[in-house]
Amino acid sequence: MTLWPDHLFLVGCGNMAGQMLSRWLTCGLDPARVTVLRPSGKAVADGVTVMTDYPAALPAGATVLLGMKPYQISDVAEALAPLCAADTRIVSILAGTLLADLRARFPQVRDIVRAMPNLPVGLGEGATALFTDSRTAPQAREAVDTLICPLGLAEWVADEALFNQVTALSGCGPAFVFRFIDALAQAGEALGIPADQAARMALATVQGSATMAARAGDSPGQLADRVASPGGMTREGLNVLDADDRLFRLLIDTLTAARDRGEAMGRGE
Ligand SMILES: NC(=O)c1ccc[n+]([C@@H]2O[C@H](COP(=O)([O-])OP(=O)(O)OC[C@H]3O[C@@H](n4cnc5c(N)ncnc54)[C@H](OP(=O)(O)O)[C@@H]3O)[C@@H](O)[C@H]2O)c1
Repeated sequence: MTLWPDHLFLVGCGNMAGQMLSRWLTCGLDPARVTVLRPSGKAVADGVTVMTDYPAALPAGATVLLGMKPYQISDVAEALAPLCAADTRIVSILAGTLLADLRARFPQVRDIVRAMPNLPVGLGEGATALFTDSRTAPQAREAVDTLICPLGLAEWVADEALFNQVTALSGCGPAFVFRFIDALAQAGEALGIPADQAARMALATVQGSATMAARAGDSPGQLADRVASPGGMTREGLNVLDADDRLFRLLIDTLTAARDRGEAMGRGE
């Protein structure tokens, strides 16, 4: 299995698709194999073809990455579907757009995979949830898996009904973690630490702790308890986070709100 598709055609190359492409190019994807369609026509990277309108045809065996906003799917499918052939492969990162919807819009395409990446894919440290159905050929599934691997963790989700949940967790997760880092810094500032120093220390603490948790054999929950000796400062702080499952409940509410929005978008709201 070669790592790269014969041709990669990106519909939209903004924040998310741009991060994916940047990582693929860093990892050796030949830019001559990439075409980007974006209304602004803004250049992407040396050697990558950028178009502002659809080509007359797609290259044979092209992999199409749908990377525009979900509400644009009707317009995009109307123009793109006639260009697709049986050997076209579609990877969609559109939040809330169901596989059945994509299948209805691209009836001639057999291999369609939903992917939900997150922003650290640009560093090769992302998390991408993947879903497809039994119509997609096993080789196509493997090829998409291979393409996603340089972006970080790739996790296949067995049930599409869980896709909005995993999107809430890992797709939206970076924003929640950014907010946590900021809140940790602001809390330090509220306790008297100079703002810039608190910001640096909060970021380094989260970065170091995430790296440590990723390398540890124990779960993050076990690590938390291990560093919190009874009667010590850390334990006192954890008791506040843990009281009435305060942090846990806050995160359930957060993920639920994000999931519900994904479901509403899936209904076209
Ligand atoms: N941001 C995230 O963290 C994240 C995470 C997971 C999934 N996603 C998914 O990624 C997708 C894109 O989100 P984003 O944050 O990257 O948005 P974005 O930065 O606004 O990028 C949207 C892209 O779509 C292009 N575009 C606009 N109208 C178009 C049209 N009619 N036809 C084709 N392309 C068009 C834009 O072109 P120009 O560049 O010319 O303006 C731009 O490149 C969404 O479907 C979202 O659900 C995002």
